[in-house]
Amino acid sequence: MPAISATAPGKVILIGEHAVVYGQPAIAVPVTQVQSRAVILACPKGKPGDVTIDAPDIQLKTRLENLSVDHPFSIAFEAVRKELHLTYFPAMRLRISSTLPIAGGMGSSASIAVAIIRALTRFLGVELPNETISALAYQVEKRQHGTPSGIDNTVITYAQPIYFIREQPYEVLPVGKDIPLIVADTGIRSSTAAVVNDLRSRWQKDPQTYDPIFAAIGSIAARAKQAICTGDLSLLGDLINENQKYLHEMSISCRELDHLVEQAIKFGALGAKLSGGGRGGNMIVLPSSIEQAEMIAIKLRENGAFRTLVTTVAQTNKEETCSSS
Ligand code: PMV
Repeated sequence: MPAISATAPGKVILIGEHAVVYGQPAIAVPVTQVQSRAVILACPKGKPGDVTIDAPDIQLKTRLENLSVDHPFSIAFEAVRKELHLTYFPAMRLRISSTLPIAGGMGSSASIAVAIIRALTRFLGVELPNETISALAYQVEKRQHGTPSGIDNTVITYAQPIYFIREQPYEVLPVGKDIPLIVADTGIRSSTAAVVNDLRSRWQKDPQTYDPIFAAIGSIAARAKQAICTGDLSLLGDLINENQKYLHEMSISCRELDHLVEQAIKFGALGAKLSGGGRGGNMIVLPSSIEQAEMIAIKLRENGAFRTLVTTVAQTNKEETCSSS
């Protein structure tokens, strides 16, 4: 039997991280330049249930049964086992690799979960709909992060730009003009769960301060949806900058992120902000053109970025049919 494999992209959040946990809309786009890959080989001579996992990026080589039940790989297997009503998995070897930074705000945990779930179900001869893949990946996210909004597993499973409100059906975003983006890594790893938990305890003590900020970020996301649909990149840049001010005000940013944001604006970007959990990880820059993207990416690396990549959110909307809601 040939190897069965599946991949899943990374993602960045254009607008609305953290506020999305509190029910506000947010916008996320897939980043296909980085990806997770799961490859499965059958072991016809192995005993049922004999599953070996090899994840060289995290120096892990083990049998599934030796992983704790809380390990994300165990949770992904268990979610699939229950979904398909299996007693045992057939003997197999699973190899997992990823070019996403771990704890870097690009959705590494959701991306790895989606790749494993897709490969595993394909290996078992079942092609699950995206809705189910996303729901199973959400189970993995929940066990790891406590109260994830679900935006990561959704954008990564569907691999399309989305407008997302927690516990509501997601919307695919029409894109009126190609959007060039630079993703720059501070090189600082930061736990999303820790930042989400810290913000929650501050919000619980002082909802009067945080609720209006969350609502303001929600309104930025709604306006950004329009700007993306009509291809107004200058307005989108302003909204990205406005969002960053609120993230800074909530202490979600950090010195290194602020520095890269300042540099990007100094070199002519339309907008720049952190992306994802914050306090490290990655930031995004909206340049005015793809040519400017390459120039700003070089400047960011000269000014402390550990790594940069340039991506484009491709135009999908050629007729101007942008609803104003
Ligand atoms: O850091 P990431 O890539 O897991 O993104 C987290 C986005 C948050 O809004 C901070 C959390 C969430 O569950 O939406």
